[in-house]
Amino acid sequence: MAVDLLLGLQWGDEGKGKIVDVLTKNYDIIARFQGGPNAGHTLEFDGIKHVLHTIPSGIFHDNAVNVVGNGVVIDPVIFKKELDNLKKFNLDIKSKLFISRKAHLILPTHRLLDAASEASKGKAKIGSTLKGIGPTYMDKTGRNGMRVGDLELDNWQDKYRALADKHESMIAYYDVDLEYDLKELEIEFCKGVEDLKKLTFIDSEEYLFQAQREGKKILAEGAQGSLLDIDFGTYPFVTSSNTTAAGACTGLGVAPNKIGKVFGIFKAYTTRVGSGPFPTELFDEDGKTMARVGNEFGATTGRPRRCGWLDLVALKYAVQVNGVTDLMMMKGDVLSGFKTLKICTAYNYQGKEISHFPYNIEPENVTPIYTEVAGWEDDLTKMSSDNQLPATLNSYIDFLEKELEVPITIVSVGPDRTQTIHR
Ligand code: GDP
Ligand code: IMO
Ligand code: MG
Repeated sequence: MAVDLLLGLQWGDEGKGKIVDVLTKNYDIIARFQGGPNAGHTLEFDGIKHVLHTIPSGIFHDNAVNVVGNGVVIDPVIFKKELDNLKKFNLDIKSKLFISRKAHLILPTHRLLDAASEASKGKAKIGSTLKGIGPTYMDKTGRNGMRVGDLELDNWQDKYRALADKHESMIAYYDVDLEYDLKELEIEFCKGVEDLKKLTFIDSEEYLFQAQREGKKILAEGAQGSLLDIDFGTYPFVTSSNTTAAGACTGLGVAPNKIGKVFGIFKAYTTRVGSGPFPTELFDEDGKTMARVGNEFGATTGRPRRCGWLDLVALKYAVQVNGVTDLMMMKGDVLSGFKTLKICTAYNYQGKEISHFPYNIEPENVTPIYTEVAGWEDDLTKMSSDNQLPATLNSYIDFLEKELEVPITIVSVGPDRTQTIHR
């Protein structure tokens, strides 16, 4: 049985959490493959809004097991908070949530290193969520990291101490003002570890392999978005993992020839939180309207998200890199009321018109070239079927399908689970 993938095609926050929740009824296993608590995946149903950071977005369904894969980085402190927030839902976490022994741990000093590194960069900062993501993946690839499986050893605290001591000397190197009480942070960390150890640790690649042999249906859940990919994103303003389809193979141990459908999620416009280039960014009333109507504030940090028109050059690139088979368009409802909409269909790149995503999209190199299309007035949020959608929205969808050469199979018209139109 093939493993389907779901991932973001822009700079994150496309609505992955919502769609994973919607699709979970069709799957036996939901498996997160990369990222960590830098993610904030929002689910809304039965009048409740819930934000998940590390726990996969299938957790509220009885039919599915949720796996945190080896490619994920886990902060036991944040994980504990997530578990505590779930207590009121009376979920059987022990039998519904499995953690890969090969997933790496975010130590308190990784978070401090993230803060020190960002502070030292001044204006050039990445705009990191400061969750310790970069330093943890650095220790992973540098072969110094601590993994969930280490917590099963009697001497894990020795390993922890050696790494934390090394980090302290690295923090000193940065020569920035950083006040912290490591003892306090370590008490919190140990409490988190105790709770994490109550969960089921597994060899997740073996578990997923056997599940495939048994014909179980698996959905791999991505975090962040393709333009934040460490290789293909707008480097260095990216995250530290492979957010694109290949990341699901390394982040779960799934062989490339076992990948089935690739669901690519995008907003009907574009947002970005943190620093870095964003060719279609708006600084006018239109951008403010998108931010206000779309409630564009980071689910993890609460920071305002930058907003702009849909960038088809970037979207095409993401479709290509991921091999997207099905597109899902989110937040069309937010654009209701715009008389005309702009879609960036090419870039003016150093004086020449190009239609591919170039090495450098900094504003001195790239200005967007737009096609204008008619907008729609109707309130989409109460609509429940394809034939209720306004004609101009259907034209917008047709235009995108033609340009991207991939069908749009879901149109989302509001944050709630029910506000989802299948096509
Ligand atoms: P994720 O990180 O990709 O899971 O996305 P986030 O949860 O960070 O951000 C998406 C935000 O948009 C959340 O607040 C969702 O509740 C909300 N949302 C998702 N789909 C829609 C939609 O179709 N319309 C509107 N108005 N909001 C949506
Ligand atoms: P979800 O899964 C949006 C951004 C940060 C910053 C850059 C690097 O909710 O879509 P990091 O903390 O990884 O070192 O930050 O990446 N970023 C996200 N932006 N959604 C996310 O996750 C993000 N995770 C990281 O804002 O610009
Ligand atoms: Mg998010």
